[in-house]
Amino acid sequence: PRHIYITRHGESEFNTVGKIGGDSSLSPRGMEYAQRLKQFMDEQELPNLRVWCSSLKRTIQTAQNFDDVESWKALDELDAGLCDELTYKEVEEQFPDVYRDRATDKYWTRYPRGESYADVVQRLEPRILDLEQAQENVLVVCHQAVARCLLSYFQQKSDLASQLPYIKVDLHTVFKITPIPYGNLIEVFPLGI
Ligand code: F6P
Repeated sequence: PRHIYITRHGESEFNTVGKIGGDSSLSPRGMEYAQRLKQFMDEQELPNLRVWCSSLKRTIQTAQNFDDVESWKALDELDAGLCDELTYKEVEEQFPDVYRDRATDKYWTRYPRGESYADVVQRLEPRILDLEQAQENVLVVCHQAVARCLLSYFQQKSDLASQLPYIKVDLHTVFKITPIPYGNLIEVFPLGI
């Protein structure tokens, strides 16, 4: 059977200072992950592999060691709108309503002039259809919220609102999805960076 691999980008400069969103580059550790990811995928010895990333620098840099990478804007991170480039503490101080709403109803809360998880699920739909129909193996290099949406789809989670926004998706970890009768097998590979 063919496989779908999902990972977040390597650690970004913004990750190191706790800022959300933005379009920062990878940190030195993130660059190390980009190399390790290529090595890991080579070890999978796949006959054919498509590689997708988002339109943001951190996923493009994470995928830079692969050939023929497809960059999709639909895979960009959840748009934090007016809260983009803030830390969670700054969101709490400057947008207390948003902070509180996210704490109680993260799935449906839309950042002012930005997106909610529900919005991201919707914009990912064509990408998910493409993933389902692809005959090749596909590696998707994306972002925390996007990875949660993709994984919840393949895990066939029933109650999206209560589960999806809380799926644990660590940095520097690859999720390998294999279709099996009546579902998918999901294996988790922390690459130790
Ligand atoms: O902090 C990294 C990040 O990808 C942010 O860019 C994004 O806003 C956030 O994670 C999504 O996670 P949560 O919905 O838990 O804030």
